[in-house]
Amino acid sequence: MSPLRVTRTLPEDATDAALRADVLGGLTVTPKWLPPKWFYDARGSELFERITELPEYYPTRAEREILTARSAEIAAASGARTLVELGSGSSEKTRYLIDALPLAAYVPVDVSESALTQAGEALIAERPALDVHALIADFTAPLALPDTPGPRLVAFLGGTVGNLLPAERAAFLASVRSLLSPGDGLLLGTDLVKDERVLVRAYDDASGVTAAFNKNVLSVVDRELGADFDPDAFDHVALWDAEREWIEMRLRSRTAQTVKVPALNLAVDFAAGEEMRTEVSAKFRREGVTAELAAAGLDLTHWWTDAEDRFALSLSVVR
Ligand code: AVJ
Repeated sequence: MSPLRVTRTLPEDATDAALRADVLGGLTVTPKWLPPKWFYDARGSELFERITELPEYYPTRAEREILTARSAEIAAASGARTLVELGSGSSEKTRYLIDALPLAAYVPVDVSESALTQAGEALIAERPALDVHALIADFTAPLALPDTPGPRLVAFLGGTVGNLLPAERAAFLASVRSLLSPGDGLLLGTDLVKDERVLVRAYDDASGVTAAFNKNVLSVVDRELGADFDPDAFDHVALWDAEREWIEMRLRSRTAQTVKVPALNLAVDFAAGEEMRTEVSAKFRREGVTAELAAAGLDLTHWWTDAEDRFALSLSVVR
């Protein structure tokens, strides 16, 4: 049994520096915004796990349905011997792929070292012949992959690509393309455009778990930068932007208030009713995914959806 290998490409203090830069940049412009990656401290990750179990939040179940039904087809189409998973987290859904592919190596990539080592150790115990090489890295930055056997399949599941703005998505897909050689592929999970009420409910659930998840970003800034955000002084907002075809989550200030961020020497004024964007979650159509992949030099070869056409997994290959 080969031990779990862990490579850190993310400096220990990179997270702190990035949070400072994002908070400073986002709270000193109009409209204010904070990037969604800061939701995911331990409590935020736990709240997201609860979101995936909500009756209103269909993407996780829809994607799991596709993976269970299609993993043999995906495996046959890709034949990958190395699976690289971006934003692997707990690697829960990936097990279907890991079990179906003729893998020699699995390369989970995540910013969370604890998630990587937990999932990695569990997998090694079950699959002792598998070379598990975890990368602690920010997958939106350029990656260096370990030298493992090809063909490679890069998987980016969950619809997280929708958190990137269109220009960021183009840059991200181009950087994924640069990791791939002929014969390699990208397996991409994308949530699909659908009835507005279904979409909004998925991001504004009746039990308020998504509201708590949204407000958690304020607790993260409070803890990490000494800020005095009161999460109860903000309301959760989820809306559908029909033109850009994305869900936007915002936090709306209930009153006129000033929030201090001591670590940045900053005092931030909020007007009553002022909204701060905390997440964009883009929804896709097949034509759009095909075009965005093509622009990055990737040809879509397969498109799998759940029975209700809510979510898609696409496989694309180097042109
Ligand atoms: C983890 C990025 C796929 O955008 O649906 C869930 C995060 N935000 N509810 C998504 C999220 C609000 C989720 N992703």
